[in-house]
Amino acid sequence: MAALKACSALVTGANRGLGLEMVKQLLEARCSNIFDACRDPDGPNSEEYLPYLRTAAKAKGKPGMSCDKAAVINISTDAASMSIMPVLKEPFPFFPYSISKVFKNPKTDGLQKIIKESAKKVGSLLGKNGLNLLVNNAAVLPQKTLLTATVEDMQSTFNTNVIGPLFVIREYLPYLRTAAKAKGKPGMSCDKAAVINISTDSASMSIMPVMKEPFPFFPYSISKAGLNMLTIYTARDLKADEILCISIHPGWVRTDMGGDKAPIDTRKSVEGLMRVIGSLTEKQNGAFLDYTGKTMPW
Ligand SMILES: NC(=O)c1ccc[n+]([C@@H]2O[C@H](COP(=O)([O-])OP(=O)(O)OC[C@H]3O[C@@H](n4cnc5c(N)ncnc54)[C@H](OP(=O)(O)O)[C@@H]3O)[C@@H](O)[C@H]2O)c1
Repeated sequence: MAALKACSALVTGANRGLGLEMVKQLLEARCSNIFDACRDPDGPNSEEYLPYLRTAAKAKGKPGMSCDKAAVINISTDAASMSIMPVLKEPFPFFPYSISKVFKNPKTDGLQKIIKESAKKVGSLLGKNGLNLLVNNAAVLPQKTLLTATVEDMQSTFNTNVIGPLFVIREYLPYLRTAAKAKGKPGMSCDKAAVINISTDSASMSIMPVMKEPFPFFPYSISKAGLNMLTIYTARDLKADEILCISIHPGWVRTDMGGDKAPIDTRKSVEGLMRVIGSLTEKQNGAFLDYTGKTMPW
């Protein structure tokens, strides 16, 4: 794997699929503080990731609990123009407006509280070096079309795929800022402080209309386009803190979401993701890339 030197990382949706593989590869890369965020740490998939965390905890060889051993954080996230926005000359403080004019009054109160509590827990475990890498990976893919999607489908997809990541970024921001400052040198990189939003090619305004296969996942594509705008805002608004943010498409991958026909496995996708993440600098801040490092069209 390329030079992924982040020593603390938090991955949402880490109990299966790409999130679980990311945790495995972060452990292999000797990332010492990994927060494995999922909504049910004792759920049916826990036997998959627990061995990796046990190995990390044993490897430390000293008694006690800390995030530089191993930690599981319970986060329940149930809860325009991508090219013009980042270069607008005037500030445009109408964040929810840019992301969506569709969703009114999303039920975010409970969601925000849960994320706030998880951030407090993580914050109490993180040391003076803060959090280097935040990966917004958790997502849902309801099979609904333009004609069948209900209000509830749209809202719940938006809650998980956009509003969850938004509040995760906001609540973990103090720790990202601490990490960026702790580095004590200018520039941007994932071993300093970075937010990685896992997106999809089906959110691309240019790719979607020319996709060969039908893609009956209307709320998903719309929500991920919203996630991409969240990336644009985050990259712009946190630039002064030297916290970088990108959207990245992991490829079509064999997971519960990707299905059996997907051409690549989680290992290959995450190796690519880690290589790209490890090579990021300020030049890529606000970019939309794929797991091979190629720039994706918005
Ligand atoms: N697989 C692909 O081909 C593909 C392609 C493009 C983009 N992506 C993106 O890659 C990321 C990972 O996808 P994947 O294929 O690994 O999916 P997956 O196997 O279906 O895993 C989804 C993860 O998200 C979590 N999650 C779902 N709803 C949640 C909620 N409301 N609150 C908290 N966690 C929730 C799940 O937790 P539970 O186990 O608790 O449900 C699970 O950990 C997603 O952002 C997806 O959009 C995947």
